[in-house]
Amino acid sequence: MRSIIVYCSKTGNTEKVAHAVQKGLHGTADLLKLDLTPEGLLKEHAPRFTFDLSNYDLIFLGGWVMVMKVHPYLSAYINRIENLEGRKVAGFMTGGAIFSRGHVYDDFTSLLDRRGARVVDFMYISTMLGPLLTKSKLRAAEEFARHVMAQV
Ligand SMILES: Cc1cc2nc3c(=O)[nH]c(=O)nc-3n(C[C@H](O)[C@H](O)[C@H](O)COP(=O)(O)O)c2cc1C
Repeated sequence: MRSIIVYCSKTGNTEKVAHAVQKGLHGTADLLKLDLTPEGLLKEHAPRFTFDLSNYDLIFLGGWVMVMKVHPYLSAYINRIENLEGRKVAGFMTGGAIFSRGHVYDDFTSLLDRRGARVVDFMYISTMLGPLLTKSKLRAAEEFARHVMAQV
């Protein structure tokens, strides 16, 4: 099974979670960071950058909560993924506050519903800008990835 993890991260929290997800998948997943300028351009040449994820059986999408929503870099990417209809997607989001979970879950699932994708699982990790991102939460992210893999 081929998997990819696409994520955006500004201060590194979501990046740590993305790496934990990759570890949970035994390092087999491709990793694509949406490392963009404020204008939405790629910061440097990323040979693996693509909107075509049709080679992958499982797509992990990760990002951080900004003003209660999926970060616009990730939502813009979701809106442009090619051939997303019917594909299996798992989401992971980080946010400062636990109460953002419901808002960002709704946003994430409606973005993917509109594209016809199937959200198989979702994880939210509260970080409080960093200090709450404990080792046990990163282990939970590894476990999340294993669990997703086992159910698809
Ligand atoms: C401009 C801005 C807006 C934010 N808005 C929210 C928010 O609405 N809800 C929330 O829980 N966290 C919010 N946060 C906190 C980030 O989502 C949180 O620190 C996240 O883990 C950052 O991920 P990163 O380190 O991968 O960039 C905000 C942070 C910034 C800088």
